[in-house]
Amino acid sequence: MSHEQVTRSEDTAAKSPLVYAVENEILVNGPISFDRFMGAALYGLDTSLGFIPGYYSEEVSIGKKDKEDKFDFSTSPELSPVFGFCLAEQIIEMKKILGNPADFKIVEMGGGRGTLAYDIIHGIRYAGEELPEYVIIESSSTLQAQQREKLKDENVSFLAGSAIDFELPQTTGVFISNELPDAFPVKMVSLRDGQVKELFIGLGDNEKFEEVWQDPSEDVLDFIKRNKVEIDEKTKPLNLLSEKWIQNVARQIRRGFVITIDYETGTFTTTTLHIDGQIEFVTRSTKEDLDLVFMAKGRALNGFSGEEGKEHLCKKYFGKVDLTSSVDFSVIARAGKTAGLRIVGDVTQGGFLEGLGFHSLKELHYETYREREARVIFGDRGNFKGTLRALDNAEELLDRDRVLIQAKNVELTNPLSGGEHVYHDRLHSSYQTFRPIEITEEEAN
Ligand SMILES: C[S@@+](CC[C@H](N)C(=O)[O-])C[C@H]1O[C@@H](n2cnc3c(N)ncnc32)[C@H](O)[C@@H]1O
Repeated sequence: MSHEQVTRSEDTAAKSPLVYAVENEILVNGPISFDRFMGAALYGLDTSLGFIPGYYSEEVSIGKKDKEDKFDFSTSPELSPVFGFCLAEQIIEMKKILGNPADFKIVEMGGGRGTLAYDIIHGIRYAGEELPEYVIIESSSTLQAQQREKLKDENVSFLAGSAIDFELPQTTGVFISNELPDAFPVKMVSLRDGQVKELFIGLGDNEKFEEVWQDPSEDVLDFIKRNKVEIDEKTKPLNLLSEKWIQNVARQIRRGFVITIDYETGTFTTTTLHIDGQIEFVTRSTKEDLDLVFMAKGRALNGFSGEEGKEHLCKKYFGKVDLTSSVDFSVIARAGKTAGLRIVGDVTQGGFLEGLGFHSLKELHYETYREREARVIFGDRGNFKGTLRALDNAEELLDRDRVLIQAKNVELTNPLSGGEHVYHDRLHSSYQTFRPIEITEEEAN
């Protein structure tokens, strides 16, 4: 796809082919829904002239690479191998509960750089257990290439495609994801003059992206009703795809578990879309015009103040930076329930790791992997003390991130080790707002 094919006459240096493609679509079809806009930024756009890549198709950079300091965002597995070792412990326990079936599989969805798979495989090997078949479903070809490289010596199969509509033969095993649904494009809604409206993106004067609030589509209204979402004047993300995703996962399972780890900041009133670890892409509902602004540590970036500056930044970074939104786990629990998935664990990430022996495991690993050996196996992350401190200090990951464990066609006689403790044992957490998910009788039937 050449740049010229999608550009219009009034070219400006700051615009990327993706921005032109989005503008073209709006000019031809009218305002586009926010999920389409966010989807284009993250995953690119299919146009009549071909595919134009988005953030995850090209630019994505997760975690710290060896000898490189630049990355967009980090995740728990990128901080410390012990995160994956704890998951390995939970998976081993689940396999035993299922009666150690020969066809037991681990299916990871949205595998990033392959780091979590790498650590889980090492954790299972370290525990002296047989390695089950491991499958990674990944929609980004850039990341899948990184996974293949990282796991080239392991017995892993790679499925290119979306976790939302993949199909596997009926599976007995564990489906896992770390920070997957937060990357799904969301719809945005808010109350405008007492009416529920949905956010669309249009083109205003000087080709500015602008907020257009329209009557919500049927699927949005159904979602609000089904999930009893309370809508007020604040702009709220609705993750319709998280429902579709968990129902698809449920359909693939004969017997087994789903472990979903992600962040939930449901009590915050603005939607903060994190970019680059430092810059935030914030939507607020306080103004009439499009208020998608790039901010550094909560403040507008220097030198780009005012509407023009915001617009310039929005277009400059569109498709080049990460966008994410907080996950509503009750939606995943409810949709899972209708598809045969029962909640068997609902805890914070800190509680999950604690239950799986985070502290005893780390001692064990200090002793077992001598520093040099660990460096060979885990690279920079082989500095166990340093990386563990990083994970242990990441209060927001431990206490803000939630772990939901669901099961299909499994009877549990005892609670799962990872599902027993809600809180990580921390004194000063500012995230202790955890409320267990409740599914009403009516929803449960
Ligand atoms: C925020 S990253 C997390 C990566 C990794 N799990 C980790 O913890 O480092 C989101 C991951 O999900 C993938 N992803 C996003 N949407 C997806 C989809 N619909 N199907 C499969 N993978 C998807 C991304 O390409 C990326 O690998």
